[in-house]
Amino acid sequence: MRVWLNGSLLTDPTGPAVPVTDHGLTVGDGVFEAVKVVDGRPFALERHLDRLRRSADALGLTGVDLDAVRRGVAAVLDGADLPLGRLRITVTGGPAPMGSGRGDAAPTVVVAVDAMRPWPATTAVSTVPWPRNERGALAGVKSTSYAENVVALAAAQRAGASEAVFANLAGHLCEGTGSNVFYVVDGELRTPTLASGCLAGVTRALILEWYGGREVDEPIAVVDGASEVFLASTTRDVQAVARWNDRELVAPGQVTSEVAALWREREPELLGG
Ligand SMILES: Cc1ncc(COP(=O)(O)O)c(C=O)c1O
Repeated sequence: MRVWLNGSLLTDPTGPAVPVTDHGLTVGDGVFEAVKVVDGRPFALERHLDRLRRSADALGLTGVDLDAVRRGVAAVLDGADLPLGRLRITVTGGPAPMGSGRGDAAPTVVVAVDAMRPWPATTAVSTVPWPRNERGALAGVKSTSYAENVVALAAAQRAGASEAVFANLAGHLCEGTGSNVFYVVDGELRTPTLASGCLAGVTRALILEWYGGREVDEPIAVVDGASEVFLASTTRDVQAVARWNDRELVAPGQVTSEVAALWREREPELLGG
């Protein structure tokens, strides 16, 4: 792992580096991005930086210098021998008093990179009983307050799945803990709208641009009648779902195979920027 913190590379990337008063640590006041790295080059970096800016704006985190983040990305990737990796960019409220109120320190900015193993081509998914709050202040924000995802993913893993999927307060299909959901009904590719409270996934947006699909909000039970389901995310790319709770699905189905092939074909267009 290589880590850049507030302007410099750390000599010991796993050693102590951020003060215990950092607002990201004490109350989860921060935003982050995960960016895929292929052959040492970041994928769709500018789209991720756009979303980082939007997430920071939603939290009122001002003074985030995206050029500094770009320098951090370049620093950790410089000379790295990384066929497949993941960048993690984190921006927090910085050192602050021990409560919800933010201090006046500059944000803490961290860029880390590590190698990554590809996900298998298919996976199992489990739905969880806790709703995503599409009306909450953090709806659609990639904030470091991810403990709800931690709890949901642990429940899914106990059920033998690699991803937990949430409905929202309206009972509509929403998203996974770290992925967006696509499904096929009557031959039509569909995915929840951003109003469902799901994250505006970079992978989701590119699939809609490159392949097409209908954004629609429907009760989560719609998936019981879907002929295909796949997950879309930075680390999974297009991953076919072979089991949804107890139901087995054809994986990959025809549409999923087409989307995955298109993804592999077009991915190089966004490497490096
Ligand atoms: C909650 C959530 N939904 C969806 C996604 C997928 O987004 P992306 O394709 O940008 O990785 C993520 C990714 O990290 C996520 O955390």
